Amino acid sequence: MRAGQRMRPFIGAALAWACAAAAHAGSPHAFRPPPFSSMPGGQYGALVREGYRIFEQTPRYAGEYTGDALSCESCHLDGGRRSDAVPLWAAFGMYPRYQTRAGQVISFQQRLQQCFQFSENGYPPPLDSQVMRALTAYSHWLASGAPIGVELPGGGLKPVPKTGHDPDPVAGRRVYANRCAVCHGSDGHGKKVDGQYRYPPLWGSASFNRGAGMAKLPVAAAFIKANMSYGHADLTDQQADDVAAWMELQDRPADPRKGVLAWLLER
Ligand code: HEC
Ligand code: HEC
Repeated sequence: MRAGQRMRPFIGAALAWACAAAAHAGSPHAFRPPPFSSMPGGQYGALVREGYRIFEQTPRYAGEYTGDALSCESCHLDGGRRSDAVPLWAAFGMYPRYQTRAGQVISFQQRLQQCFQFSENGYPPPLDSQVMRALTAYSHWLASGAPIGVELPGGGLKPVPKTGHDPDPVAGRRVYANRCAVCHGSDGHGKKVDGQYRYPPLWGSASFNRGAGMAKLPVAAAFIKANMSYGHADLTDQQADDVAAWMELQDRPADPRKGVLAWLLER
């Protein structure tokens, strides 16, 4: 108890520093979404705010569709505003678009359903559900003034260039211990403060499943390189590849498209 109290100012200072550093991260030429202070009023504004709440605290406000401890914001940083962390303002105007995985042209809402199924390890909210309406309104607002059908700088993730070496999970394990475990826990299961996740789980039953984008090594490496450790992204390309390879070896929920047998075989 007393040790906990003594730690608190330290954690507070560390977080303040991380947030200040994080505010200056990202692509310098990226599109600037409207500031939170300019959220609209009226019915549209209410829906936008509801979408923001769901985005920030997904298990709490969209628990019926969520099967893990992650919120949209766990990966789409700063409420989906941060460039090079798959920002919503860059995504919104690019739909409908052809998606190889689906083998068809999909709408923005169908793309949201996929993140629920895989990144949230949950269920796709129906297209006419309130959760879907709210998340779509929030994304629409963040993209205010952004051109439609144009790839914007800072959108998606920047691929990590080829290093000439294979990703090495053993080296990745060291990177993890030195640079990640302090927040995400030495077991990778995240850390809670007052019963709420302060740091999200990177693997284990409360994390994204194997069907998620983040479960693919190049996607995880690109996210980590641009954004981790939080507020202080300074890994080399090789370190980002290595730690992503280490993450990929860990246990997590199976791809729901593959069924129970795959889940048993993967264990
Ligand atoms: C585990 C991390 C993670 C979580 C949690 C997550 N996403 Fe994603 N999301 C991604 C990644 C990574 C991509 C890009 C996938 C790829 O490139 O394969 C993505 C893609 C998207 C896209 C399409 C982006 C584009 O540029 O086309 C949208 C929209 C989206 N997510 C919305 C959401 C919403 C809404 C939630 C919460 C319900 C959510 N995501 C939760 C990681 C996550
Ligand atoms: C200073 C604390 C801190 C450190 C150190 C840190 N992270 Fe994170 N990480 C976070 C926070 C906080 C989030 C979620 C951001 C949010 O919710 O706004 C996050 C999110 C993530 C996510 C997406 C969400 C998930 O659970 O999968 C991945 C992947 C990730 N971190 C990987 C890493 C890796 C790999 C390292 C080491 C190179 C690392 N992080 C170091 C704080 C940290």
